Amino acid sequence: MKLYIAPMRGLTEAVYRNTFSRHFKGIDIAVSPFITTVNKISNKHIKDILPQNNQAFPLIPQLLSKDPQGFILMAEKLFELGYEEINWNLGCPYAMVANKMRGSGLLPYPDRIDQFLEAVFSKIPNRLSIKLRLGRFHADEILMIIPVLNAYPLSELIIHPRTGIQMYDGTPNLDQFEKCLLVSKHPIVYNGDIVSTSDFTNIYARFQSLNGIMIGRGLLRNPHLGEMIKKPDVKKDWMRLKAFHDELYHQYQNVLSGPGHVLGKMKEHWKYLSQGFEHSHSLLKRILRSTTFSQYESHVLDAFSF
Ligand SMILES: Cc1cc2nc3c(=O)[nH]c(=O)nc-3n(C[C@H](O)[C@H](O)[C@H](O)COP(=O)(O)O)c2cc1C
Repeated sequence: MKLYIAPMRGLTEAVYRNTFSRHFKGIDIAVSPFITTVNKISNKHIKDILPQNNQAFPLIPQLLSKDPQGFILMAEKLFELGYEEINWNLGCPYAMVANKMRGSGLLPYPDRIDQFLEAVFSKIPNRLSIKLRLGRFHADEILMIIPVLNAYPLSELIIHPRTGIQMYDGTPNLDQFEKCLLVSKHPIVYNGDIVSTSDFTNIYARFQSLNGIMIGRGLLRNPHLGEMIKKPDVKKDWMRLKAFHDELYHQYQNVLSGPGHVLGKMKEHWKYLSQGFEHSHSLLKRILRSTTFSQYESHVLDAFSF
């Protein structure tokens, strides 16, 4: 069973992926946070996925687009860089994106998805996979989309079984996910709310034909999770977690300028990482209040001293 690191913009970029791979095992492949397609590509747009910055895992770059020309241009560039597979984002739920008919904003329009795929498919040299939700407004939208997708030789579908307007509320709709598995011709990867080995076991027991499982917030909370899933005798190792944290912090100091940016980034990580600690709420509160490196470092030291 392949395990994927989920794309999480602002979190699972190259710095995280590379640092993660030096401390933890268990993950087979990563999908990058989305890159918005443009008609004139500069290195700035693709910095996160440049091969020299990505030696950790096999990586599938993800594109957010409703513009076939920009998509084709970017796909060709990515192919030149060695990316034989790319992923199309049809899941982003944020209104700023979805209201412009990108990400989950395209899900109510199977015809437009069809037109887009028709326009790009014969022109791109890469294999294509799609990451999507059940719909933007209704969980049934996907049942109109899958027949459209079945007509194209996609490499796989990664499905997060919520709607766009749900964001991350409620629980994944596994019954609807099951219907997708029955009607799709493509290999399917499950994504959503895997935060423990038992979550993994339950999903895998119910859906044995899956091509893989993608984990986002669960890995940020517990980076050991991939190893624990693959080897049930692995236990959380706090020293290893601390070493990982310290390197991540150090790497962000190398690439970001000033305490504001570095602490801002680390605070985003702690929103998830703190959930693996006792008294997570008060720990997070203290970390979020840090305004200097020394305050931050002393809260982190406290967190790891048992
Ligand atoms: C902060 C944040 C950023 C995200 N960025 C992306 C993204 O760039 N592309 C994407 O397809 N999904 C993105 N997602 C969605 C995740 O990939 C994933 O589908 C979602 O977190 C559910 O999986 P999980 O329950 O394992 O976290 C993002 C989610 C969060 C919370």
